Amino acid sequence: MDEWESSDYEPSLPVSEKSNPLTRDIDRASPSGIVGMFEACDAQMFQRETGTNYQRLFDNQVVTTLAEVAKRVELILKDPQDSLVVLSGCGTSGRLAFFIASRFNESLKQLNRTLVYSYIIAGGDSALLSSQEAPEDDPELGMLSLQKVCEGKKRVLFIGVSCGLSAPFVAGQLDFCLQHPEVYTPVLLGFNPTHQARDEPIPGCSFTFRSVAQRLQELAQRRKAFLINPAVGPEAISGSSRMKGGSATKIVLEVVLSAAHAAAFSHTPVANDGILQHMREYERAVEMTYQHREGIAALIEAAGRSLQNEGSVSYLGWGPMAFLGLIDASECNPTFGADYADIRGFIRGGYKDLNNNEGPLSSRGPEFCIAHEDFLHHVLPGLTDRDTVLLIYTQSDDLQEVVNLGSKVREKTPNIYAVHHRTDSAEALQQVSINELCSSTLDFLWRGSVPASGSVFHQWELSTKLVLNVVSTGAHILKGKIYQNHMIDVQATNSKLYRRATRLLQKLSGRAESECEEALLKAIYGADKLTKEITSCDITAHAQVARNAKKVVPLALVSLLTGCSLKQVESRLEQRRVLRDALEELLP
Ligand code: F6P
Repeated sequence: MDEWESSDYEPSLPVSEKSNPLTRDIDRASPSGIVGMFEACDAQMFQRETGTNYQRLFDNQVVTTLAEVAKRVELILKDPQDSLVVLSGCGTSGRLAFFIASRFNESLKQLNRTLVYSYIIAGGDSALLSSQEAPEDDPELGMLSLQKVCEGKKRVLFIGVSCGLSAPFVAGQLDFCLQHPEVYTPVLLGFNPTHQARDEPIPGCSFTFRSVAQRLQELAQRRKAFLINPAVGPEAISGSSRMKGGSATKIVLEVVLSAAHAAAFSHTPVANDGILQHMREYERAVEMTYQHREGIAALIEAAGRSLQNEGSVSYLGWGPMAFLGLIDASECNPTFGADYADIRGFIRGGYKDLNNNEGPLSSRGPEFCIAHEDFLHHVLPGLTDRDTVLLIYTQSDDLQEVVNLGSKVREKTPNIYAVHHRTDSAEALQQVSINELCSSTLDFLWRGSVPASGSVFHQWELSTKLVLNVVSTGAHILKGKIYQNHMIDVQATNSKLYRRATRLLQKLSGRAESECEEALLKAIYGADKLTKEITSCDITAHAQVARNAKKVVPLALVSLLTGCSLKQVESRLEQRRVLRDALEELLP
């Protein structure tokens, strides 16, 4: 049994918020050590029975539920008239909902079938590319967006993803499904046991996430609802569900939808064995990814150097891999308090290739300019040797294009790297040119795989996701944005993050919750004294103000422990480049 599974390990926290004992010292680890810790954490996703009360991915009950859900999808695929499969979530969960819905609609299109998948992301399409944390707190918005997507439909399989079993947006949607069983079958996907689902009252609602999850659990016994919630272990960086939570979401949804497609279109009935086998393939893909430990460490080092020197990291991607770059980059703002320009993603073909519901978003601001052309016009001219560029592609992409873009980058910075996937052992001529341009390349050679198969591509995507997550997190660790294994510059921009920030203050200061919340509020509002006007506001209002506040947790922590004014703390923090070192120096 792992230490985190013991009932007295951080007992008040759900698995998704616990700190992982494996990464306690990740803030002091070398790049290669960081990769090793991520590898061990990711391996926890696939851990078999551990003798605790936690359900795991490979447990019989979980596999059976996956098969049941796959059969429901199969029914819709065979008779799509007036039917829909809706994938929905917030933040990374919503981005993956979009990604997976798009990928499986694409495969339906190739088969000349009716498209049945729709996605919903809290905050709309802007949230695909930038952090929009506030809508996550709005259950009514969730319900209304579900209603809108499903207008006129007679049968809907709704799959709500909330890794922490926590987002009110998704709770609102599930509650709506439960009220309309004649149309909706709800599926909840997350990675905490039901009794650890969030039980905080939701303003204006009679339900909490936990009460909705419990209602679902009851209905699940009669197959009128489904609950998929194996534990995958705590995240490497506490609460950062974009990592294991996101990876497990991708695995589960792809396994379910692939099984449904095979049953509907290739005469391969859904079976537990097939599901298990498919999951084992993902396990192998994760293992194979981490065999490149030194290559990944080199990327962390380069990206970390850029961030430390106020430079930038650009992901230049092709095809679906590019969207994984966009997702990874978009998460760095709420997770590390990063600026959008610190780590940016770009996709060949821009919005045409993204094919999102709301179409091109470039007019919404520079962070929405995502095409390679945007990189060429806005980033390349100012690129210097402080910046790092990562090319992300597969053998299916036009390698000459990669060479052309890479050559332009190489004229500006020597810090150019590549991540690519292939099945052919023989390297294409252009690949040799790319290798010459790059400081180093992560060359994933998937021997024995069938290149055209969708499932192989899904594994390449997962592998890319893991690499990018490790690189962006590792680079921010080197920049000093992590303390032990906590994100110390987390944004308090919704109720979950506000609570997480308060808890972090409690943990690091040892002070009472009320004192910590007070210190947090002072930092958010930039006020050494809290007025009645401030204290009478609710968390939603605080979270909104927090959007414009910087370094709230470090400010709150130092002023709480030293008694210094916020102004004093601010200038002392500014004098020190590395936030983590500053905290260690300034704290008594
Ligand atoms: O609130 C921000 C965030 O934590 C994102 O980082 C995350 O992807 C999203 O919420 C969704 O969380 P969950 O899947 O647990 O609802």
